[in-house]
Parts: sequence; C-alpha cells; structure tokens
Amino acid sequence: MQEFKRNVTIIAIESSCDETSASVCRNGEILSNIVASQKVHEQYGGVIPELASRAHIQHIVPVVDLAVKKANISLTETDAIAFTQAPGLIGSLLVGSQFAKSLSLALNKPLIPVHHMQAHVLANLISNPRPAFPFLCLTVSGGHTQIVCCQSPLNMKVIGETIDDAAGEAFDKSAKLLGLPYPGGPLIDKHAATGDATRFSFPEPQIEGLNFSFSGLKTSILYFLKNAGKSNIYKEQFLASPEEQQLFINNNLDDICASVQHRIISILLNKLKKAAATTGIREICLAGGVSANRGLRTAFEKLGNESGWNIYIPAFEYCTDNAAMIAITGYYKFLAGETSDDLSITATARAEW
Ligand code: KG4
Ligand code: ZN
Repeated sequence: MQEFKRNVTIIAIESSCDETSASVCRNGEILSNIVASQKVHEQYGGVIPELASRAHIQHIVPVVDLAVKKANISLTETDAIAFTQAPGLIGSLLVGSQFAKSLSLALNKPLIPVHHMQAHVLANLISNPRPAFPFLCLTVSGGHTQIVCCQSPLNMKVIGETIDDAAGEAFDKSAKLLGLPYPGGPLIDKHAATGDATRFSFPEPQIEGLNFSFSGLKTSILYFLKNAGKSNIYKEQFLASPEEQQLFINNNLDDICASVQHRIISILLNKLKKAAATTGIREICLAGGVSANRGLRTAFEKLGNESGWNIYIPAFEYCTDNAAMIAITGYYKFLAGETSDDLSITATARAEW
C-alpha cells in the first residue's frame, strides 16, 4: 500500500435503500456523516422502491451540501468520490451513483465504487479501538446476514450467510405478525426489554455449517399466534378466532417479543461461536442495522467475555446505513490505488465480492 504524505479527502455517497447519506473523510477520520431517513415507507409496512428513488432525488443535493459544509472543506480539496455501487434497490443506487459521476466530472476527480456489505464490515475501522487483522464480522441488516472473515481492509470472504430471510427481516416480519408498524425491529427490541424471554420457546433451525435460516421462525410465530397460546402451538391448527389472537397478543406482547428476540439472537450467536471455533480467530465484530439491538449487544458482550474474544461494535450511527462506512472503505481503496476515471461505471442490484 502506498504511503501518502499529504491529506487524503474522500466524499462518499450512500443510497442503496431508504437512507440518503453523504460523508466526508480525511486521512481515515470521519469529518461529517449526514443521513436523511425516509418516513414515507412506514404507512406501507415496507420499503416501496419507487418512493425510495424519488425521496433520494429530493434529498441528495441538500445532504451532500450539508456534509461538505459540516466537514468545513472546499469541494476542490476532494481527492475522490466514493459511492455505493451494489447491492441494493437499483433505482435508489442509480440516484447516488449518477450524482457521484456528476461530481467526478465536475471536479475532475476519480470515482471509487464501493460494495455496501464490505462497507458495513469496515465500519469497525472508523473509531478506536479497532480490531486487529484477521477478524470475524457478523453483519446483520435488513437485507443480509453474513459472517465475514476479514484478512485486511480489502481482503475479506463470506464464510456463512442466510439461506432465506435476513435477521432484520426476521425481526420486521415477526413485528408485522404482531401488528407492529415497519420497521418493527426497534419495536421488538423495546418490548423485549420488559418481557420474559423464557416464557415461549420457538424452535431453532438445524442448518449445516455456518449458514443461517430464519424463514421457519416466521412460520412458527404465525402458527403460534393463530393458536393464541393454546395446544400444539407450532402446528397448523388455527384454534383461535381473530379476536382471541388479538387479545392474546395484547396481553403477552412483551413476553412474545422477548422470546422471539431471544431465538433470533441464539441463531446468530451460535453460528458466530462456531465460526470462531473453526477459524481460531478471537477478534470479533458486529455490523449492520440489527447490531443496534440491545439484546444482541448484551448477549454478544457476554459471549465475548466468556470466550475470551476481543469484541467490537461500531457506534450506532455507523451500524445502520450511512455514508461514513462508504467513506472509510473509499479511503482504503484510494490508498490501494483502486480508483476509476471510467464514467461508464454503473450501479448493480446484486454483486459478488
Ligand atoms: O443495516 P440497515 O440499517 O439497513 C439495511 O442495509 O438493511 O438495517 C435495517 C434493519 C431493519 O430490518 C431494522 O428493523 C433492523 O435493522 N433494526 C433492528 C434494530 N434497529 C434496526 N432490529 C432489531 N433491533 C433494533 N434495535
Ligand atoms: Zn445496509
């Protein structure tokens, strides 16, 4: 990697889903990280891609402007423009990538395309203490659940991932079954804080290796609610009327949330434990929006203490979707010479890495 004597300033843009974000990073230090969230999706119970693209178009100019002002830099000091190239909603990605290309053309500075999931992992390199290499990272978001083995900033490999729903989806879909608004993850977290996690027991899927599965959990919750705590709770019998189901939810919401959350956490941490044992790595990180979950953080810290791991969790603002993680990834790519002047680069909804 090249040693730079002068300042390296990166502007970064993130627009893969329903957050429009811009960040400025200088020599690996985050100077600003502005995030505009989109409330418009709440009423629909999930992200509506077309509405997300339109909201990005409205937000992108003021968000980038504010990030530059807050960082107190002039655009001419920029060395490169990093942007989320993949994966994500294609319309959303196109707004951010086209804006990045326009900036690149106007400033005559190179582009740095960034993989969103790689950036979630590298959010762990934003603040001290930083993990030593190699480290493992459990990335848990609304769209992904992965265990990544990271040998250096730009050399990482997915060693386990979900075969169906992501952990965030498991939270959000469970919340929807309980009648909670989108995104339900933070609400399950809130109710679980005062609930009894041992009250109801949801089954843990038996999946080989380091992969995860969450779709069975959703089905078991569905049947459990349709039977409103009566016998054969995980069988398709549907013993309760809609009114009985609602009453059951109302009377037991905290305990149901705590029990569901407990199962999601045990699925995640059992695989992480297995990954640490298989690789012998003891530097272990969390990343992604679900790492905001208080139950997961507490259980992760407890497991880390018991197992003798050094554990790391990014600050909350760097766990959910944000451009600071794109900026830090852009910074390491810049140092490695991974920039591009090719304005035909485009966003893609999916991408291997
Ligand atoms: O990483 P992220 O901000 O966006 C994606 O790239 O998907 O993750 C969003 C996901 C949503 O599913 C949301 O419900 C979940 O993270 N989430 C939580 C909590 N905060 C956010 N899930 C459980 N507990 C939380 N406190
Ligand atoms: Zn994300």
